[in-house]
Amino acid sequence: MTDETARPAATQDRVFIFDTTLRDGEQSPGATMSHSEKLEIAGMLDEMGVDIIEAGFPIASQGDFEAVRDIAKLSRNAAICGLSRANFKDIDRCWEAVREARHPRIHTFIGTSPLHRAIPNLDQDQMAERIHETVTHARNLCPDVQWSPMDATRTEWDYLKRVVEIAIKAGATTINIPDTVGYTAPAESAELIRRLIAEVDGAPDVIFATHCHNDLGMATANSLAAVAGGARQIECTINGLGERAGNTALEEVVMALKVRGDIMPWKTGIDTTKIMNISRRVATVSGFPVQFNKAIVGKNAFAHESGIHQDGMLKNAETFEIMRPSDVGLKDTSLVLGKHSGRAALRSKLSELGYALEDNQLSDVFVRFKALADRKKEVFEDDLHALMRDQSAAS
Ligand code: KIV
Ligand code: ZN
Repeated sequence: MTDETARPAATQDRVFIFDTTLRDGEQSPGATMSHSEKLEIAGMLDEMGVDIIEAGFPIASQGDFEAVRDIAKLSRNAAICGLSRANFKDIDRCWEAVREARHPRIHTFIGTSPLHRAIPNLDQDQMAERIHETVTHARNLCPDVQWSPMDATRTEWDYLKRVVEIAIKAGATTINIPDTVGYTAPAESAELIRRLIAEVDGAPDVIFATHCHNDLGMATANSLAAVAGGARQIECTINGLGERAGNTALEEVVMALKVRGDIMPWKTGIDTTKIMNISRRVATVSGFPVQFNKAIVGKNAFAHESGIHQDGMLKNAETFEIMRPSDVGLKDTSLVLGKHSGRAALRSKLSELGYALEDNQLSDVFVRFKALADRKKEVFEDDLHALMRDQSAAS
């Protein structure tokens, strides 16, 4: 049942998190998820405090329709959104899928840049008319309508302003500004949103959203810049999953806002301790492993190998970490033992394993540890036990 009170009210310091792992993320070639996997991920997103879940593209297939419909029925707190192109058939199908959500949303879009206008072969006036008709139709079905001018960042300013005004007049409640091909840069991203808010008629009645792709590796920076410009909804995916180089990574924008609240004073409703768990689950079900050095969720994001770093970490974790592993749901920092490690880390690891060593014993083991580390990339617990067995046999 539609519940108009289900969403938090928009405030100056609150940013909505719109997750599109199950729609834009699933569009990555090969990232298809099963029905039950989608339901499971949607449940995790809802539980971690995502405000809006884009659950799929209902017209795309019967499977997508059923997934969106079942996610809508099971939703608890998050708004459930489906995507539709700018035609009545898509929009009706989308409404059918989301209508049983506690808070349903229809998201409809059309490509507005010159390159995208050429595809359906519509001139500017014809496209403007199509936007008016389709947003009006969506709004007659659903109180919450999001509209996106696809490729907004390559759309002429005058035309972008015109079509955004038409969508607002027709009843859109969220205006999403997609950087569809990851073309913009942070200063430009901030300025575009700022100018839309300043110059578009009806701007105060809607929320502006930012939807960035990562083709130039700037999606996170562009999303945060858009928020500085006035956007109050960030569209993102877990692990940055998405077509080509992916979408803005949820874990990156959320943790950036949490860690740097001093210069970016905008809050999300995300329980960050659930990040690592959902990251691993999405990697497994999508078949897209997370790169080792990926910010926040990579295997190495909280791992230290060099002696100087390990020594610093053992004395005060803040020396080399700006977040605690527990902030993202990890048990602890990992001090990886390798050829760059020092005596302090070796002593600490051995003592964890139950070996208390005098300084001279540690010196002996350390020499043999370094020789081993030169041959192996990483020295594991079993290797340390073997070193200690050799040590006691020799003494
Ligand atoms: O990147 C994009 O433009 C999109 C739209 C459908 C919003 O994903
Ligand atoms: Zn996209």
